[in-house]
Amino acid sequence: MNLKKIVCIFLVVTATIQVSAQNNPIRVGADGRSWDIITRTSSYRIAVNNNGDVRSAFYGNKLNLERAGGIVAPEVQLRGGSMTYMERWNLVLPMIEVVFPDGVREIELTYKSSEIIEVDGYPTLKIVQNDKFYPFEVSSFVRVLPEYDMIEKWVEVTNNFTGRRGGDIRIENLQSGSVFLPKDAYEVTHFSGIWGFEFMPQTTKLTQGTKSLQVKDFKSYGSSSFMVRPEGENDIFSGKVWFGSLSYSGNWRVDFEKFLTGTVQIIGGMNFWDQEVILKPQQKFESPRMLFGYTEQGPEGVSLNLSSYIREKLLPPSHRDKIRPVLYNSWYATYFDVNEEHQLALAQVAKEIGVEMFVIDDGWFKGRVNDRAGLGDWTVDLNKFPSGLKPMIDKINAMGLDFGIWIEPEMVNPDSDLYRNHPDWVFHFPNRQRHEHRNQLILNLAREDVYQYLYKYFYDLLKENNIKFIKWDMNKQLTNPGFPSAPTEEQRAVRIKYVENLYRLVENLRREFPDVWFENCSSGGGRIDLGMMSRFDFNWVSDNTDPIDRVFLHDAYLRLFPANTMISWVTHEDWRRMNPSLEFKFDVSMAGVLGVGYDITTWNDEQKKIATEKIAQYKTIRETVQKGDAYRLASPFDENRSVIQYVDKNKRKALIFVYNTAEYLHNLVMENERAPEVKLRGLSPDMRYRIDDFRETFTGRYLMEVGINIPLRGGFKSKIYTVEAVE
Ligand code: GLA
Repeated sequence: MNLKKIVCIFLVVTATIQVSAQNNPIRVGADGRSWDIITRTSSYRIAVNNNGDVRSAFYGNKLNLERAGGIVAPEVQLRGGSMTYMERWNLVLPMIEVVFPDGVREIELTYKSSEIIEVDGYPTLKIVQNDKFYPFEVSSFVRVLPEYDMIEKWVEVTNNFTGRRGGDIRIENLQSGSVFLPKDAYEVTHFSGIWGFEFMPQTTKLTQGTKSLQVKDFKSYGSSSFMVRPEGENDIFSGKVWFGSLSYSGNWRVDFEKFLTGTVQIIGGMNFWDQEVILKPQQKFESPRMLFGYTEQGPEGVSLNLSSYIREKLLPPSHRDKIRPVLYNSWYATYFDVNEEHQLALAQVAKEIGVEMFVIDDGWFKGRVNDRAGLGDWTVDLNKFPSGLKPMIDKINAMGLDFGIWIEPEMVNPDSDLYRNHPDWVFHFPNRQRHEHRNQLILNLAREDVYQYLYKYFYDLLKENNIKFIKWDMNKQLTNPGFPSAPTEEQRAVRIKYVENLYRLVENLRREFPDVWFENCSSGGGRIDLGMMSRFDFNWVSDNTDPIDRVFLHDAYLRLFPANTMISWVTHEDWRRMNPSLEFKFDVSMAGVLGVGYDITTWNDEQKKIATEKIAQYKTIRETVQKGDAYRLASPFDENRSVIQYVDKNKRKALIFVYNTAEYLHNLVMENERAPEVKLRGLSPDMRYRIDDFRETFTGRYLMEVGINIPLRGGFKSKIYTVEAVE
């Protein structure tokens, strides 16, 4: 051990504390070997004991810190270790499982050093531990986001064998982080779904054993985001909630283990099912980051903290604060039947009604007349666009519209020149059938030549054309994850390499083309996670554009993510066969990033008039929708209506979106027996506000404590109210 170095680090730590006094969210104990991590509502304590073990306390309420000690678990749980703590450690879900070169499968760590560093603008505690025998180093990180009541955890492991003593360390499992909750009866809510019905909230009791959420095939129609509450607590606005989400777009898992003693461990990270990493001497491997949060403001606290963090700190900085444009997308209007003349006609009407960004969806490239061919050959189809894309883009730009385009970089149709020339560029195993879905296979982005091919094509596409928006799609689950020509020791790490190169591709294209917006799509919302959110500006939430279903989807999505990432189009789709009005459809889509997807060349004057008025209205309110905080005042999952409120940061302006989803006879259902008033949220109690339709003004306190009766009658009727502070 390098004692000199440790002493230096302690001096630095002490200095940091003196400078930032009591506001420092990481307070270091006098011995330099214990840390209290404090956010607005939560606390977390880590300490090194006399044996050099790094242990931590329950994560949760701030008052926990009043109890001296309170240490319950190793900060990094291992395969290996002792049986001496209150849990039986061989039952705890391990964060790290490795096999050393001599076949030993247990790890024993001891404290080496610590420092407080800054990571992406926030203080981060880094603790380094070494294996007691093998040259294996584990750094664990806790990044503290005090104003969002969240901490972020990840680990980095290093093989410090040298060539001479050399040896590979086989990583069989490496989770990002874990927290322990005190004994209680808990329920977990997670957000899972299928195509068309993404993010459906599902709640289940945590009983003894493991509840495991896992993705094994990349496209997940779900989310690693979760909320854990004491059983039976239903209030949306108050109560303890532990929550979290993983920043990773490959396979992931989040496990909830309830022990015999009643305490609960929550652990999350990459899914090492059919995966391993061989760490060569001197190599490092870093896990993705796992976000954990604790609030006492119920699910509303989760949504305020998580979505504010995403909006204010996580989204790509180039576009983070920009107002999202009103979009047009041609998919539902044309499917694959795109051509210059019709696109220009669509663009003409789009401009007339107030659209700002015109996006051509699938079908523009060579051979793409249906979903059976073309993916992989990213050159324009000259049958559809005889002069190429550029003249059309110029004309669209001349109308005063920006232009965007759909791509699906990670996929290939077997019926394509790319596949005919490079059949080995897809994931596959010899002697095994290549499984297609939507007639496509998945390119092996773990290969450098595939990466270079894709980078060149999309670089050229963006360089040669004035493209301001990319819709990046991914329509197939991972199957056949084989890379037969890779070195044996890399074969089971191909998924990890794929995701690394996916991120690299997006990041490098964004770096070269900093003005371009990027939309994340995966057959609707099949790949929405914090890893994508830090690289894309918004998400295509679902291919389900039925406005009634969207009311539910929006309610679910906004529990976690901000409205400025939620693209929502007005289309002719009517899955529920309720024939909702165009006004209702606009009111629904205006709760996120508004888009239009009809064949608007067939619209009559009345439809155009409604659209023009609605888009104009959206432009006057979108700043509040896109930058404000969202509050769900009534959920369609609980009532026959949905009420969403957005409030500006300065609390001077708010919007109330009201949607009736059905009508029931008076007093027939429970919610109709209750007081009809809706209590607003997030206003300033002493400010006075005016609401359209109401003659009198109200104090914020009145609106929040007594509420207002929103007189909206009729199924599938909607209204948007504006609430403004009176000077
Ligand atoms: C996926 C997307 C759709 C559309 C089509 C195009 O299904 O989710 O929005 O882009 O692909 O083929």
